Amino acid sequence: MNSPQLSTEQLSAYLKVAATAALAAGEVLQACWGKVESIVEKGRPGDLVTEADQQAEAVILDIIRQHFPTHSILAEESGQFGELEAEYLWAIDPLDGTTNYAHQYPFSAASIGLLINGVPTVGAIYDPFHRELFCGAIGLGSTCNDQPIRVSSVDKLAQSLLVTGFAYDRRETPDNNYQEFCYLTHITQGVRRAGAASIDLAYVACGRLDGYWERGLSPWDLAAGVAIVEAAGGIVTAYDRSKFDIRSGRILATNSKLHAELSQELLHVASIKPWSWL
Ligand code: IPD
Ligand code: CA
Ligand code: CA
Repeated sequence: MNSPQLSTEQLSAYLKVAATAALAAGEVLQACWGKVESIVEKGRPGDLVTEADQQAEAVILDIIRQHFPTHSILAEESGQFGELEAEYLWAIDPLDGTTNYAHQYPFSAASIGLLINGVPTVGAIYDPFHRELFCGAIGLGSTCNDQPIRVSSVDKLAQSLLVTGFAYDRRETPDNNYQEFCYLTHITQGVRRAGAASIDLAYVACGRLDGYWERGLSPWDLAAGVAIVEAAGGIVTAYDRSKFDIRSGRILATNSKLHAELSQELLHVASIKPWSWL
């Protein structure tokens, strides 16, 4: 489905609420920093939740519901409210980078995206440790702390800096991204694994990184960042450059200039014998 034609005023109103909620969640994350008492594994090893995740999510839900009581919500810690196929669906990750946060490694963010008819359209990501608020909406452009941002212009993988991550099911599947990580490290200027998908996307949007790929993600990891990358001039698709499907958990996001080459290399490394490229 396509997004309905929304006026600049409507989009700005959604973006303002997303940004307000992300900043409010950031205050909670700062207040709880270094003080979390409960760190629990949710299911898979390494998939953690703390009281900071829960408190930040409660603050975000309050703000979204206050402004848009009829909209559907998909929130990482409290689940689904309303239909996932609704015209308006907020996808909320109150603390993206929980492992970092639990270890007091200061690289995490609150991420709030709005899907309109299934299309990531508006996003706000707040990293309270660097005091950076990334915002974007399709048709409005993207900003970091109110300054316009754009993707980079690097057009060769050999000159690029990329980022990726490893899903919590990495011990259970050979499709764990290890081979792709090593191969792309070999043929680029580097591949980072920072531990917060939303910030990875925000950094592609502002040109600090040139491309990002990952699998095993959830809509709340991606919704805000996808809108921000696209609004900053980047491209988001599946690995093979087919249409991005937020429910697939798989994403390829680049500055657009590297898209074809990175897609080709991802497909190539998945199709060859492990380590045969060394
Ligand atoms: C995780 C982070 C990480 C990514 C994981 C995500 P969480 O989110 O975004 O970078 O590699 O797949 O689940 O659990 O910290 O909200
Ligand atoms: Ca996340
Ligand atoms: Ca989270």
